Amino acid sequence: MQTIPTIFRQDYCPYPFKISHLNLIFDLDAAHTHVHSEMLLTRVNPGSDLLLHADGLSLLSIHLDGRELSAVTDYVLNDDGLRVLNPPESFTLSIVTQTQPDQNSTLMGLYASNGNLFTQCEAEGFRKITYFPDRPDVMTQYTVELRADAEQYSVLLSNGNLVDEGVLDDGRHYAKWIDPFKKPSYLFALVAGKLVCQEEKFILASGREVLLQVWVEDGNLDKTQHAMESLKNSIRWDEQRFGLELDLDRFMIVAVSDFNMGAMENKGLNIFNTKYVLANSRVATDIDYANIESVVGHEYFHNWTGNRVTCQDWFQLSLKEGLTVFRDQEFSADMIGTDSGRAVSRIGDVRTLRQVQFSEDAGPMAHPVRPDSYVEINNFYTVTIYEKGAEVVRMYQTLLGRDGFRKGMDLYFARHDGCAVTCDDFRAAMADANGRDLAQFERWYSQAGTPVVTVKSHYDTDLQQYTLTLRQSCAPTPGQTDKSPFHIPVTVGLLDSNGQEMPLYLVGESSAQASCVLELTDIEQSFVFDRIPALPTPSLLRNFSAPVVLEYAYSDTELAHLLAHDSDAFNRWEAGQRLATQRLMQLIKSVQAGEALSLDSLYLEAVGLVLNDENLDPAFRELVLTLPSEAMLAELSAEIDPHAIHVAREYMRQQISAHMHKDFYQVYQANQTMGVYSPDAISAGKRGLKNLALAYLVSNDADEQMISLALTQVHEAQNMTDRLAALAVLVRTGDECAIEPLNDFYQDFADDALVIDKWFSLQASSPKTDVELVRQLMRHPDFNLHNPNRARSLIFSFCHANPVQFHAKDGSGYAFWAEQVLALNAINPQVAARLVRVLDHWRKYQPALQARMQDALLTVANSVGLSKDVQELVVKMLK
Ligand code: TRP
Ligand code: ZN
Repeated sequence: MQTIPTIFRQDYCPYPFKISHLNLIFDLDAAHTHVHSEMLLTRVNPGSDLLLHADGLSLLSIHLDGRELSAVTDYVLNDDGLRVLNPPESFTLSIVTQTQPDQNSTLMGLYASNGNLFTQCEAEGFRKITYFPDRPDVMTQYTVELRADAEQYSVLLSNGNLVDEGVLDDGRHYAKWIDPFKKPSYLFALVAGKLVCQEEKFILASGREVLLQVWVEDGNLDKTQHAMESLKNSIRWDEQRFGLELDLDRFMIVAVSDFNMGAMENKGLNIFNTKYVLANSRVATDIDYANIESVVGHEYFHNWTGNRVTCQDWFQLSLKEGLTVFRDQEFSADMIGTDSGRAVSRIGDVRTLRQVQFSEDAGPMAHPVRPDSYVEINNFYTVTIYEKGAEVVRMYQTLLGRDGFRKGMDLYFARHDGCAVTCDDFRAAMADANGRDLAQFERWYSQAGTPVVTVKSHYDTDLQQYTLTLRQSCAPTPGQTDKSPFHIPVTVGLLDSNGQEMPLYLVGESSAQASCVLELTDIEQSFVFDRIPALPTPSLLRNFSAPVVLEYAYSDTELAHLLAHDSDAFNRWEAGQRLATQRLMQLIKSVQAGEALSLDSLYLEAVGLVLNDENLDPAFRELVLTLPSEAMLAELSAEIDPHAIHVAREYMRQQISAHMHKDFYQVYQANQTMGVYSPDAISAGKRGLKNLALAYLVSNDADEQMISLALTQVHEAQNMTDRLAALAVLVRTGDECAIEPLNDFYQDFADDALVIDKWFSLQASSPKTDVELVRQLMRHPDFNLHNPNRARSLIFSFCHANPVQFHAKDGSGYAFWAEQVLALNAINPQVAARLVRVLDHWRKYQPALQARMQDALLTVANSVGLSKDVQELVVKMLK
C-alpha cells in the first residue's frame, strides 16, 4: 500500500487570498463539459504562491489579467492542484477546464443520472469541476451561466436568483443565476435536465413572498406533495422557534436517483436522494414519510446553521451537522406536538445513537466530535459527528434551558453571520449569552468514547435524606488513553411507592422540583435530597439527558415500577428495555451453554400491561414491545456470538407471542386505520402497533390462520405501510406462502425504483436469505451496482441487517463482503467505504469468526488500486 497523507487540525492556516467574485460559465454536455471560471483575487496575508485544488481535471487554458500563463515559468500543475508562482497583489484569473460527466461514477463533482446533469460538491467535489481553493473558509459571490441543448436540458438551475435566460444558436439555450450571498465552494450546485416541478408561492412571517419548487423527473409529480408540505412546515418552524427567516426569493428542492447520501444543502438549491422526496400512499411507508419530513427540515435548517454561518475547516463539521441534526430532531418532535409523541421521537433518536454511535465509539474508528486528524474527510460523515454532535448540542439546551439556548443561538448569529467559524465559537456564544463557564464542556468535542456513569444510592431513614452518588469513567479509544472528566447533565426524578413524583429538595435549596438536572463535573460527586419520607425509586438520566451509559443496580420490581408509572415517558420505555436486555443477555449465555431456555412471568406481565393500556399512545406501546435489536445486543456483548444472539432473541419473541397471543390479536383488530391514508403520527402509530402485533402473531411456528391473516393484509392493504409490513412477515417465515406475494409485489411496482429497492431489501434482510440467494438476486436484471440506493438495498441490507446469515460460520458472508467492497471501490469509493465499516467490530467476535473476518479484511487491504476512502479504514481496522 502506498501511504496517503494525514491532515491535522493543528495545521490550519488561513488562506492568503480573498476572492471577491467568481464568475462561472458552463458549456454543458454529458460527454464533455467546458467550465470557464474567472475570479478576482486580492492578497490578504503575506506569503507565497497561489494554490488551487483540482481532482481529475483537464486544464484547457489559464490567463492572469488577460495574459496566457506559461507552464514553464508561471505555474506548476500536479495531481491535486495548480500552483501559480509569484502572483501580483490583486489580479483576475481566468481558467478553462474540461470534465466528462458521463464517465463520472463517483457521484462527486459534475455527473450524469438518467440523462440529467447534477453536481455534488461537499466536501471536496468542487475541485472536480474547476481549479479553486476548495475549502470552506474561502467564501465568495457566485455568478453562474449555464448553456446547454434546449431540448435535452430544458431546465437549467443553480444557486440564488435567476437573472436572465434565453436562446442561443445550434438549438442551445442559457440561464444566468446570481447568488447574492457569498458562500464556500461546497455549497455550489447546478442541475440541468428534463425535469418538472410542483411550485407554490409562500408568504413568510415578515410578509415577503417567496417561490418554493420541488423538481422531479417527469411522471413523479404525484409524489411531491409531502416534500412541499414538509418544506413549508420547516420554514414556519424556523421562524417560530429560532426567529430565522428564509433569506432568498426562491427555494428549490431537486430529486435525483443516483446519490451518495441523503441530501445536500446547496444554497437555495437543495439536491435530494429521491428516497427523501418522493412519496404517496401507494409507494411510501409511514417511515418514508417521517424521513422525508426530517431530511427536508434538515437541509432547510442548514440555510442558517451551515450556510449563513459555515465551518472554518472540515474538522468543525459537527458545528453544522450536530447542530442541524438537533434542529431537525426538535422539528420532528414539535410536528407531533404531544408530550408522548415527543418521547416517541426521542426514543427513536436514542435507539440509533446507542446502536450505531456507541459502537462506533467503541471501535477502531472512534473519533471525537471534533476530530484531530483525517485521511479522507468523507469517512468522517459519521454518526459521531451527526448524532453524538446533536446530543452535545442538546446538552447545552438541557443545561441552559430552552430560553438560554435560544439566547446563545441569537448571539451566535449576531457574532458570526457570513463567517466560517469553529465549535469553540459556538460554545463561547452559549456561555457568553448565559454568563456561564462552559470551559469543561469542551471535552465533549475533544475526547472520544462513551462515558459510563455509575450511580449508587443511599437512603437515611433518620435524616429522611436520599443520596445519589454519581461516578464517571471513559474507556480508552485509539490515540486517547487518559480521559478527563466530562461535564454531564443528569436529569433525575424520584418516584414514591405509588408511582407518584416526589418533590425534590436538593440540600441547600429551598424550592422543590419534580425533575432536576444534576451537573456531574468531577469523577465522583454526591447529591443529597432532603425531606424524603420513604425509600424512592430513582428515575435516572431522564429523556436521555446525556450520551452516556448509565449503570444502576435496579431490581426487577423497581424496573417494573418505573415501566408502569414514570412520568418521564422515555424512562418508562427505558425500564422496559432494561428488563428485556437483562433477560436476553442471560438467554444468550444459556444458548451458548446448551441449557434449556426459559422466560419468567415478571417481564411478560410488565410489558403485557403496556400492550393493553389503551390510554397510552400506540406508537409508544409499539416501542415498548420491540425487543432490543440484534445489533444492540451485539454492542452489549463482551464477545459477539451472532448465532446465539439470534436464537435467544427469537426464543424471547416466541415466548412473548405465545403468552400474549390473544392480546396481540385484539390489538391487531383494534388498531386498524380506516378511510383515506394519512401519515400523521397517530395513524402511523396505530399502523406500527398493529403491524408489530401481526409480526408477533406470525412467529416461526405460526398457524395457518395467522398466515392467512397476513396474506389478507397483503391483498387488501390500501397503503404501502400495510402491504410491506405483511409481506415482510411472510418473507420472514421462509415458507412458500411468501413466493406469490413477492412476485405480485414486483409486478405491481416494476417501474418504481424506490419500491424495487424495498423488494430487494426485504429479501436481503430476511434471516432465511443466505448469501447464495443474495448472489442470485445480484444477477437480477434490475440489480445495478452503480446506483447507490440499489447497492444499499441488496448488499448493505444483507451485510448490516441480516447478521445471522452474514456471519455464516464458513465465512461465505465475509468473502462476499470483500468482493463487493472491491467492486464498489472501483466505481464509487464513498459507497465502498460505507460497506467497509460493516466489519468495524471484527475483533469483538468469537475467535473463529474473527479469523475469517481478518482474512476478508486482508484480501481488501492487499488489493491494488484502493481509494483513499477504503484504505484509511482498512488500515485503521487492522492496526
Ligand atoms: N451535508 C449533507 C447533509 O448532512 C450531507 C453530505 C455530505 C452529502 N457529503 C455529501 C450528501 C455527499 C451527498 C453527497 O445534509
Ligand atoms: Zn447536514
